[in-house]
Amino acid sequence: MMTIKTQGKYAFTKEIDLLDFSRRSIRFLEMSVPPLSGHSLRVAYLARALAEALGFGEGLSRRVILAALLHDLGIFFIYKVKGLYDEVHRLAQKELDEVEEGVGSELAHCVMGERILAETKVMAHLAPLVRLHHPRDNERDLATFESLSPEERTGACAVALSDAVARSLAKRRLELMPSSAALAEIFDEVGRSSPGYFLLQASRDGLIEALRSVLSQKSLFVDIRSEWYMDEVLRSRHGHPSSIGVEELTGVVRVFVKYMEARSPYTAHHTRLTTLFAQAMVSRLGSLSLEEVAEMTLASWFHDLGKMLIPLSVLHKKGPLSPEEWSVMKEHSYSHYIFFGSMEPLKRAVFWGACHHEKLDGSGYPWGLKGHQIPLAGKILAVADVASALLEERPYKEPLSFGEALKVLESEVRRGLLDGNCFGLLREAATELGIDERMTFKEVSALWAEEEKAA
Ligand SMILES: [Fe+2]
Ligand SMILES: [Fe+2]
Ligand SMILES: [Fe+2]
Ligand SMILES: [Fe+2]
Repeated sequence: MMTIKTQGKYAFTKEIDLLDFSRRSIRFLEMSVPPLSGHSLRVAYLARALAEALGFGEGLSRRVILAALLHDLGIFFIYKVKGLYDEVHRLAQKELDEVEEGVGSELAHCVMGERILAETKVMAHLAPLVRLHHPRDNERDLATFESLSPEERTGACAVALSDAVARSLAKRRLELMPSSAALAEIFDEVGRSSPGYFLLQASRDGLIEALRSVLSQKSLFVDIRSEWYMDEVLRSRHGHPSSIGVEELTGVVRVFVKYMEARSPYTAHHTRLTTLFAQAMVSRLGSLSLEEVAEMTLASWFHDLGKMLIPLSVLHKKGPLSPEEWSVMKEHSYSHYIFFGSMEPLKRAVFWGACHHEKLDGSGYPWGLKGHQIPLAGKILAVADVASALLEERPYKEPLSFGEALKVLESEVRRGLLDGNCFGLLREAATELGIDERMTFKEVSALWAEEEKAA
């Protein structure tokens, strides 16, 4: 069987700012849970102010800001837990702290956030800080806390305090400068909801005093009412960026896709299979640079990430979608482009991913590009995407065998929708991968599992 030669270690020139990527990821994910909008940014803003007030070193400061930004990451991936996803939406009009309490049962989102981050290479160091952002007075949390280094404990306290204060402020509707009585109430609330070991560490580290001085800054109460202001402060004052490469970022997006499985198993499986096809097709080409090949892989992992924002009532609807539902569904290939497309190092990969529903005759979306306007990578992804979708069982359709899928693809080529050369690449790649026409989704997916092991 062919080995796909796209997963080696190459020297890439493009560096991606991890904080910028995290900031955009959270703003993107918060779109799916409107009551959380701006919350993570507010926590990161407060954590940054605390880090500055206490003169944290570059490394700890960066770690605290990143962990604060990502502290509620788990919320967006725990859809299956007791109908949590629907629960969060049902509470959309209620106060943030009520939402957090609903979500906080069993502290599922802290554990989920920890798990996701721990599986990435570049963000694993944030996992314990995220795990402890709602510290409780129980043995398990105390043991976790005590297992941390002194610096990590300080970081965990800074993140958890910032979260507690952000929730307390949100309840007061972010009024301009709370009165001294309101401030006393805020500190009282934070004190009552925090375990003793945590408060002891926080006061030893000077965090409580620093928090008092941070909360006496008038400009803070202007900034925290505006996502734009907080965003600007965070972007302009976060010190030296921590950069990662295209392959490392691909690893992060791959973990996100893995955990998408809890919400939409077919989307996660589909993304894996589309990537398998796209990588195999690209490696047949031989004309792309190694950097382009890596970006193509990233594009494929990214391509349906926008489905995180599509309500399940539309995404998993049994039966045909109404015109309104279709217009919602069609946003999925565009939303990730809006959030990540303006990051210079990601521009190309994100654009390629966003082109996967474009058709040669201009009838596709989101832009309705025509043949020559669609990049080659977009044409390859379009074929890989349709091939994978046809093989899958979805809530609204039966699965096809690979041979049946090829017939449908061929007719789309004849109708001038998909690129004939890319279709040829898929046939060649399938032969090399050992896929025969009778194979089903399950059998073809098994090849993916082998690729995973080899990676
Ligand atoms: Fe939380
Ligand atoms: Fe939170
Ligand atoms: Fe799609
Ligand atoms: Fe897709």
